[in-house]
Amino acid sequence: MKIDNYSLPNLKTAQKRTKDETMIERSLFDIPEEYKHLGLNKTYYLRTYGCQANERDSETIRGMAEMMGYLPVQSPEGADLIIMNTCAIRQNAEDRVFGELGQLKRLKYENPDLIFVVCGCMTQEEEVVARILKTYDHIDVVFGTHNLHRFPDLLVQAHFNKERVIEVYSKEGEIYENLPVIRNMKSKAWVNIMYGCDKFCTYCIVPYTRGKERSRLKEDILNEVRILAEEGYQEVTLLGQNVNAYGKDVYSDYDFSCLLKEVAKTGLPRIRFMTSHPWDFTDEMIDTMAENPNIMPFIHLPMQSGNTEILKIMGRRYTPQEYLSVYNKLKERIKGIAFSTDIIVGFPNETEQQFQDTLDMMDLCQFDNAYTFIYSPRSGTPASKMEDNIPLDVKRERLQRLNKKVGFYALKNNQKWIGQIVPVLVDGPSKKNPDVYSGYTDTNKLVNFTADQVQSGQIVQVEITAAKTWTLNGKQLVV
Ligand code: 5AD
Ligand code: SF4
Repeated sequence: MKIDNYSLPNLKTAQKRTKDETMIERSLFDIPEEYKHLGLNKTYYLRTYGCQANERDSETIRGMAEMMGYLPVQSPEGADLIIMNTCAIRQNAEDRVFGELGQLKRLKYENPDLIFVVCGCMTQEEEVVARILKTYDHIDVVFGTHNLHRFPDLLVQAHFNKERVIEVYSKEGEIYENLPVIRNMKSKAWVNIMYGCDKFCTYCIVPYTRGKERSRLKEDILNEVRILAEEGYQEVTLLGQNVNAYGKDVYSDYDFSCLLKEVAKTGLPRIRFMTSHPWDFTDEMIDTMAENPNIMPFIHLPMQSGNTEILKIMGRRYTPQEYLSVYNKLKERIKGIAFSTDIIVGFPNETEQQFQDTLDMMDLCQFDNAYTFIYSPRSGTPASKMEDNIPLDVKRERLQRLNKKVGFYALKNNQKWIGQIVPVLVDGPSKKNPDVYSGYTDTNKLVNFTADQVQSGQIVQVEITAAKTWTLNGKQLVV
């Protein structure tokens, strides 16, 4: 919808799915000569909320901002350009962003030339844009997830016309292969393999904010991974809302297991992927993981609930037994595999017995880690229209009980590693204590360890000396 010169979002339009082919943009991405210096002697501050898809989008935003000459800064104070890349997954994520927007308003008074940008999933919701229009008049540019490539143009418009620019398209989406990227990390990289989601779980806003499920071509992904390998990257994480559905929209005989095999052949030391959906998991994918030592023995496999009825109303397409079947196959085939999951408590009308089923599944699966959330109604989704007779304090109390179990199994799993020697990819000196280094095991466990002069990006052998609930301690093994 267009009002004046605003393009405003519409969740109903965003829900539509057609059989239209996905457009892939490959033309040279360039910024007109006269705008290449827009950011000269200026700085930008970029804050990212939410998941890895957003982290990766922010790396593209960095690429575009720096093409225009802006330099990055670590604090919003004094920056000439502030960009908030937002998340819409739960209400508390949105509340945090609005709180932050309010707090940073003073910076606009201090510097009227400051350009304030809000983008990401939140801007795809009409209620959010309406609220920005009504109460946040210090925001200069709003653009959606489908308008990422338009960022430089929108910035130029806001800068020269001194007017507010709102451009949010609600559509299925395209694939842009031509955008610049400045990666945040030197040895680990995110690689999108697909965008969007067609699962439409009844609680989830993502299919509306990020468009239809669309896979990048295998050649584009493999090229990107090969270049990363040549540049010395040690780890890539293949990204998609539902990576197991990779390829279904473009190939009849090339799926995620085929892609994984070819990515493994590039010889990159560490390959990860997320997020997996149990429904699309095939035995070939499990075999591929088992047969390739550079595919890491770790999986994030959201369960959401342990109850058959709740899973059905959530639209998850599997029963707890089917979830367990995938889980068990992975456990049997991949030695030492670690698991993490996502759980939602307090889905509308979830009974105590239904919640108990989730707790029972936690006892069966004994996850290494679980991200747990209280259900948060998202406007426009089917679940948000369901009546809900469960009071918030009951949900909070369930979350506490669940988290206690999560912590119990996290510690129990970590304790098994004491005395073992494991490879750790070094991130750098630990954030809390510069005398200690930190990095991740192949099973995705954070290890703080003592060492003599290791470099970030190295994979070193570490003996695990102690286990905490969320981290391990260790010392580098010197050979
Ligand atoms: N309320 C609470 N949690 C949600 N998630 C997704 N949508 C919602 C919602 N409306 C959780 C799911 C998902 C994770 C990324 O966020 O567990 O796997
Ligand atoms: Fe990522 Fe989902 Fe948040 Fe969007 S809503 S940023 S896809 S977690």
